[in-house]
Amino acid sequence: MAEHLLSEFRIGPMSVRNRIVFTAPAPAYAGLDENANRPTQELAAYWEYMARGGAGLLVTEPQSVHPTSTLNPRTVENVSDDLIPLYRQVADAVHDGGAKIVGHLWHAGFLAATGYRNLPLWAPSAVRAPMGAMVPMGGGAIAYGMTQRDIREIIGAFASAAARLRQATFDGVEINAANGFLLAEFLSPKVNLREDEYGGSLGNRCRIVAEVVRAVREAVGPGLAVGVRLSADPFIEPGLTESDLPEVARHLSGSSPFDYINLMPALLPDASFVQGAGWDVAQAVRRESGVPVIYNGLLTDPAVAESLVGEGDVELVGMTRAILADPWLPSKLESGQRDQIRACVACNQTCSGGAGGLAAMGTPSCLLNPLPAEVDRLARTKDGVGQKLLVIGAGLAGLEVARLARLRGFSVTVWERGDDIGGQVLLAAKVPQRARFREAVEFYRGQLAALDIDLQLGREATVEAVEAFNPDAVVVATGSTPAMPSWLRSRNGDAAGVSPMDVRTVLAGNVRLGKRVVIAMAEVDHGYQALPVAELLADREHEVTIVAMAFEPSINQDFFTSEHAYRRLLRKGVRMVTTSEVTAVHPGEVEIRNVYTRQTGRLPADSVIGSYGGMVNDSLIGQLEESRSNVFAVGDCVSPRDIAGAISDGIRLMAKLPTAVRA
Ligand SMILES: Cc1cc2nc3c(=O)[nH]c(=O)nc-3n(C[C@H](O)[C@H](O)[C@H](O)COP(=O)(O)OP(=O)(O)OC[C@H]3O[C@@H](n4cnc5c(N)ncnc54)[C@H](O)[C@@H]3O)c2cc1C
Ligand SMILES: Cc1cc2nc3c(=O)[nH]c(=O)nc-3n(C[C@H](O)[C@H](O)[C@H](O)COP(=O)(O)O)c2cc1C
Ligand code: SF4
Repeated sequence: MAEHLLSEFRIGPMSVRNRIVFTAPAPAYAGLDENANRPTQELAAYWEYMARGGAGLLVTEPQSVHPTSTLNPRTVENVSDDLIPLYRQVADAVHDGGAKIVGHLWHAGFLAATGYRNLPLWAPSAVRAPMGAMVPMGGGAIAYGMTQRDIREIIGAFASAAARLRQATFDGVEINAANGFLLAEFLSPKVNLREDEYGGSLGNRCRIVAEVVRAVREAVGPGLAVGVRLSADPFIEPGLTESDLPEVARHLSGSSPFDYINLMPALLPDASFVQGAGWDVAQAVRRESGVPVIYNGLLTDPAVAESLVGEGDVELVGMTRAILADPWLPSKLESGQRDQIRACVACNQTCSGGAGGLAAMGTPSCLLNPLPAEVDRLARTKDGVGQKLLVIGAGLAGLEVARLARLRGFSVTVWERGDDIGGQVLLAAKVPQRARFREAVEFYRGQLAALDIDLQLGREATVEAVEAFNPDAVVVATGSTPAMPSWLRSRNGDAAGVSPMDVRTVLAGNVRLGKRVVIAMAEVDHGYQALPVAELLADREHEVTIVAMAFEPSINQDFFTSEHAYRRLLRKGVRMVTTSEVTAVHPGEVEIRNVYTRQTGRLPADSVIGSYGGMVNDSLIGQLEESRSNVFAVGDCVSPRDIAGAISDGIRLMAKLPTAVRA
């Protein structure tokens, strides 16, 4: 049941069809070159699609209100009236889909990117912008301390941007005073060192936010909802803590007319957080402000969201990553198809990290559901009817192919030589940080049953067996085996006093590890394996040292997850030796070499684990191709990558498979 979650609600002048909010996911759909920083048709199509999924309220990409805030060409700038026609199109599309849309107005402050326009970083005071794994922007430069004239300019910029949104028929405006961006920097006693009326006491630090709210309200009138986004400082030593937020909310509501607060966690939570973390803060902010609160906090399970709204302390919930994982989540809840929802597993891997993620100027997508609109399009065409498809391997690549093929009308059989579906993901899920990956496997289990796919476990594919089955097409999805460097290969199982092995063997269990463990990893943590395993072993009281070839072991992980991971690993005593590789194993120690200087050294070790990703398990492909056409391959057996690669391969194959089968 989701009766509370799905009930209508009024936020100031705006009524929403349900309590589910898709909060500022930062789609980077401004154009490039001459269209840099302008909204595009792609952006309109994106919001149209998201509205159809059923959320009550959509909060747009952060719109930069001033040139000093704009991060890169893909950031939408709300600085001129040119954008009104396109944003009106966005608003029309969202309204047609039954949702409401609020524009998210923002100045990045000292988290802007100096390099884009070579402008100074604006901040309340001339302090150093943060640097580190968590802050890809800002980059440690000394900010420019704003004058009062600059403050007036920024207030005016927010108001003008809001007026444009009113003209574009938006339903509301949200002012970002969160996450270490400009207005939050004014709130923070650590960053705001001003001695004028904009610094010092909490009332003074709130002043600029209240003035922005008042100017925005004046610009949009009573017909649009005005919201404020708040969070604690996302820094290691926060100036503004979560416990300060209720008081900030009280001050602001006493001095400015806004309709709601959108409260977010300081750092995007990953799977190390529980759903509902920070709920007590949300309740206190609700009490102190007297306005409705949107609570954001890793709500990936609609049942948890329902219970929180049901308790009545906050009225609305952000379910941003949950909706990236399944844009149809609200409408599936509405139509009683909860078991068909693809759950977000809180990995932050491709939505906030990776090539499509925040720092890469991409539009966030989910690694489990990278192309939802394309999948919907494919599923509408039933051109596989009458064709028999065999999928070999029930890892995520094979499972996605099986699911899509069935949706297209194929009769589908899956052979899996193991005793369960999921492939490597079952191993990945043995680490607490990745335990929720099991939910991805459970989604496919539900799909196999719902779509009537013939799954045969314990069935090893051979050329002879495939010939006997004689399908119209075969998809090989046999995955990978662990990649092993020479020092690991030659010593595997050797009784040299140290037992080298690969990550998968360790996770599969039944291995004995000594007290001192060295984890040697490749330059990039293929499949995100080394760090989670290091943490698992540290939790089991091993003394763990990671030897990483890169400067930063977590180099391919998003900055939020890296930040959380480094904090936990270092607190748990995990050592990291970077820019180094293991070259040999000796009794009681390993030999290491710096990749730049070639200097060698030794580290004590009772056990050594190699984390070097996978090698293709592709022998079946060539064998089958000798006697058959219509043999296709997807996932790690083509090129060992990660879950996003495996699932994307499945989708790409489905775009051509029916045609290829007929040819
Ligand atoms: C410890 C670990 C942690 C990881 N963590 C992450 C992570 O955090 N994020 C991420 O994106 N990726 C991660 N990865 C990588 C990711 O899991 C893989 O890239 C992805 O799951 C590959 O999917 P696949 O379907 O191509 O192959 P697999 O998952 O390897 O599936 C192949 C399947 O084929 C079956 N099979 C093989 N041969 C035959 C045969 N002849 N007949 C029948 N069946 C056969 C196998 O039993 C297996 O079930 C991790 C991998 C590991 C090992
Ligand atoms: C990829 C991605 C981009 C985001 N970008 C922004 C942003 O630009 N501004 C902002 O205020 N919040 C941003 N957020 C935070 C979300 O609005 C939300 O508060 C957060 O994801 C927590 O909610 P969830 O657990 O439901 O995902 C982003 C989140 C994600 C996952
Ligand atoms: S990439 Fe991971 S965190 Fe992001 S939406 Fe998908 S499952 Fe959730």
